[in-house]
Amino acid sequence: MKTTLVQFTPRAESRTKRLLEAYLEHNEISEFEKVDISHGSLPNLNSENIHQHFDRSDDGELNTIATKLIEQMKDTEHLVFATTIYNLGVPAQVKSFIDLVTRNGHLFDYTANGPVGMLPIKSATLVVTTGGVPIGADWDLLTPYLETIINFWSSEEKVELKIVAAVGVDGMNPEQVDEAIRAAAES
Ligand SMILES: Cc1cc2nc3c(=O)[nH]c(=O)nc-3n(C[C@H](O)[C@H](O)[C@H](O)COP(=O)(O)O)c2cc1C
Repeated sequence: MKTTLVQFTPRAESRTKRLLEAYLEHNEISEFEKVDISHGSLPNLNSENIHQHFDRSDDGELNTIATKLIEQMKDTEHLVFATTIYNLGVPAQVKSFIDLVTRNGHLFDYTANGPVGMLPIKSATLVVTTGGVPIGADWDLLTPYLETIINFWSSEEKVELKIVAAVGVDGMNPEQVDEAIRAAAES
């Protein structure tokens, strides 16, 4: 079973990264395709590059980056998606990643019955820390969106989703953060 890890943990002292490492260790997950988007800036779609999305033969920067990321996502059966929450939703870099890889003919396709996912994703784990937003609250726009887009990519009826979250860490002292990370990783 191929596991793919998509990771956005840009801070050196990232608590999401610590939670991810604890989760991987606790579950003895050591073999995976790593897609670390913490560094640099993935291109946003704009007037200069959007044509590449529609012309796959164009070998510009957007298509080069998208092709590489899509290749890494291929054959994923278990997806681990680790990210922080920014302003109630996905960080811009994560949205750029999603805009790059969500291409028809690769992660989904159009059929007579509408779009269908093309990745064989059976299960997904969201690894998340939040400063204060409770997972599942009305104002948590992160986890419902990730669940929906992962199901959109999947060719399975329904992706089995697990959320590994340390919630409200901005209001905690270091010992409380350690404990929240430990408890979440072992949940
Ligand atoms: C730009 C920015 C926006 C944030 N917005 C939210 C938010 O909407 N809700 C929330 O609970 N935490 C928010 N936070 C707090 C982070 O999600 C929280 O500190 C998280 O643990 C950071 O992850 P890290 O330690 O892996 O960097 C925000 C942090 C930043 C830098």
